[in-house]
Amino acid sequence: PASVGRDDRGRLTVAGVDVCALAERHGTAAYVMDEDDFRSRARDFRDSFASAFAHLGGADVYYAGKAFLCTAVARWVQQEGLCLDVCTGGELAVARRVGFPAERVAFHGNNKTVPELREALEYGVGRIVVDSFDEIERVIALATELGVRAPVMVRVTVGVEAHTHEFIATGHEDQKFGFSLAGGQAMAAVARLAAHPEAVDLRGLHSHIGSQIFDTAGFEAAVHRLAGLHAAVATEHGIALPELDLGGGYGVAYTSQHTPLPPRELARSLAEIVERELAAGAGAGHPAPRVSVEPGRAIVGPTTFTLYEVGTVKHVDLGGGHGRTYVSVDGGMSDNARPALYEADYSCTLANRSSSAEPTLARVVGRHCESGDIVVLDEYLPADVRPGDLVAVPGTGAYCRSLSSQYNHTPRPPVVAVREGESRVIVRRETIDDLLALDVADA
Ligand code: LLP
Repeated sequence: PASVGRDDRGRLTVAGVDVCALAERHGTAAYVMDEDDFRSRARDFRDSFASAFAHLGGADVYYAGKAFLCTAVARWVQQEGLCLDVCTGGELAVARRVGFPAERVAFHGNNKTVPELREALEYGVGRIVVDSFDEIERVIALATELGVRAPVMVRVTVGVEAHTHEFIATGHEDQKFGFSLAGGQAMAAVARLAAHPEAVDLRGLHSHIGSQIFDTAGFEAAVHRLAGLHAAVATEHGIALPELDLGGGYGVAYTSQHTPLPPRELARSLAEIVERELAAGAGAGHPAPRVSVEPGRAIVGPTTFTLYEVGTVKHVDLGGGHGRTYVSVDGGMSDNARPALYEADYSCTLANRSSSAEPTLARVVGRHCESGDIVVLDEYLPADVRPGDLVAVPGTGAYCRSLSSQYNHTPRPPVVAVREGESRVIVRRETIDDLLALDVADA
């Protein structure tokens, strides 16, 4: 987070709180989240997109709750004037808990249940992003039954897959999300929805091309295809769809290898792309659609670090004068599955003191019963790293707590928010009793 520093004893501090005080008060492992950093990143996205798209149809930013969502975060998102993307009834329940304005909620998912759809319509969500013909029929039936018009976006498989600096544009799309463009399904979905104006308020088109992307080339290809469909809908159905959603996916720097685009530059280049592509299509002449984006990782990822305590240190001789130091911490793949799932790379730092010892190549590992339980693959730590030290792993705000598990009956760490020299728990630590409570003792 932006507010991280070191005090004169060499302790890491965040928002004016030192990590030793945090460990003492809240225990380890813990996710430590800088509230003001979250709020300012959220505002930066909101303001950057609003201003870059002001001369077009305007823009909204939907925070993607799948990256990390809890009641406090939903409240911050609301207070900072963003919209919210939820993809399950569970995430919707968090939004409802804070009274998140329903019209600013988007409901995603490729297999929403009928009760979830019913709840979303009764709550009055601003958009349901439909993902299959089965779902279209369910939405039409439910809206008819409830006597409402369902606001609907059509998720389009644009045939672009982006990861980091590479993107692949393909003609056919072998994935579970969306209606394919190439096969004409997206147009058929639009036609089906347009045939039911009494039950459906057809808002627009949606695409999401991937995650942890640093380059706008993939978005350019996606917008080109979306704009083509937008124009074709105008020609064939006489409908100028009022909204386009470009999804999320903006990358963050987990290590020094990556340099993310600041939101202002990202918004400006996406606005240029949208303007150019819309002007080229047959939709030109209609008012420009309002654009939305759905960043998750880029808002929450950098706001958080995980604080662990070192339990054991082991030196392994690799032969030829080489060795590796295994540093075991009190967490691991249960609180951060990303290294095991995606070979994701993190960094870490000794957090409770400074050390003048020689740096040594260390592998930080968790406490779970498998060897793929890696926290940080390779990192130089001072050679005197020892049990009782604290280690901080930055960039764990996105897809860590939200992807966490209780593997090996491990209670999940708390999420602690820090702000202006104070800390408070926003998600409490799980206990063994929490785990046992679900386990029917006398079954
Ligand atoms: N919108 C839609 C429709 C999405 O499917 C996603 C992410 C987002 C927005 C937000 O993407 P972001 O801005 O956070 O990249 N667990 C993986 C990432 C899965 C992303 C799924 N969809 C990971 O840890 O890398």
